[in-house]
Amino acid sequence: MERHVTLGEFIIENQKDFPYAKGELSALLSSIKLAGKLVNQQINKAGLAEILGKIGKQNIQGENQAKLDLIANDIFIDTFRNRGEVCGLGSEELEDFIVFDDDIHREAKYIVLIDPLDGSSNIDVDITVGTIFSIYRRISKEGSPVTSEDFLQPGRNQVAAGYIIYGTSTILVYTSGNGVNGFTFDPGIGSFFLSHPNIKFPKKGNTYSINEGNYIHFPKGIKKYIKWVQELDENENRPFTSRYTGSLVADFHRNMLLGGIYLYPEGTTSPHGKLRLLYESNPMAFLTEQAGGKATDGSKRILDITPKELHQRVPLICGNREMVEKAEKFLKEG
Ligand code: AHG
Ligand code: MN
Ligand code: MN
Repeated sequence: MERHVTLGEFIIENQKDFPYAKGELSALLSSIKLAGKLVNQQINKAGLAEILGKIGKQNIQGENQAKLDLIANDIFIDTFRNRGEVCGLGSEELEDFIVFDDDIHREAKYIVLIDPLDGSSNIDVDITVGTIFSIYRRISKEGSPVTSEDFLQPGRNQVAAGYIIYGTSTILVYTSGNGVNGFTFDPGIGSFFLSHPNIKFPKKGNTYSINEGNYIHFPKGIKKYIKWVQELDENENRPFTSRYTGSLVADFHRNMLLGGIYLYPEGTTSPHGKLRLLYESNPMAFLTEQAGGKATDGSKRILDITPKELHQRVPLICGNREMVEKAEKFLKEG
């Protein structure tokens, strides 16, 4: 009989990957699992519970906050506050980092950065949304106050990262630097089960995901790349197709499973694109590399960028290595 491994079992079995961690990272991943289940429950009944819609306020980045953005944010913060593994947190929905500075959390080792609900423009129309998370070990000594250097580490320092996709099924996908694994939630039982072991981008991809409505603002190289993916090949076939939902988690998940490239270039909402380095691009870049793909800002590896601030934006091109390198070539030629 096939053995069904739960996420909890998998995390414990893989604890040996972190000889220094003494179980705290496993406990932290379990906190994310728990918060993910709570958010999942809210999303699934949102239409009935009257928690759809906007709250009429904007976050620090000038974006309209949806009720579920804040519900998901509170669920994750409360979960970390109620448990002892996290000493500091940064979120898309908070102006500044928060430091959990009490006796329980001061000794904690980990910093978490989250996008509590990704794709919030899709919430009210029943299209897939997600949660993205990124985990670092603090640099400062445990027991001392958390510093801004603890939060502003380059992405290559991540010890784990992942997302929960609330789609046709709910799947938690994560890496702790030893490949990427996905776990599907069984709502009847209330557990996540290993369903997508050792995910790798397929050798070849044929999907490109970009908001082409912004074409006029794109750099020349990206415009040329888009024209190139739209061309016919020598057999008069179109080798590439376009898919874009407006939820990074959904577009990324599809591209990683089926092969493809995701692009959010500069020149649109801000000169640095729209996606945020700390809680969108870095975790996706870590997953991309662990799944055999490539993630750049057009010329530099995302994971080597040293962040300057919590909500810093960065252009993101990630996906199948070959496809990303082709886009980089167009960008370089201009
Ligand atoms: P969020 O809902 O967390 O603010 O993120 C939205 C992001 C990302 O999910 C998506 O890929 C991108 O914004 C879509 O932006 P456009 O609507 O500009 O294409
Ligand atoms: Mn987002
Ligand atoms: Mn969000």
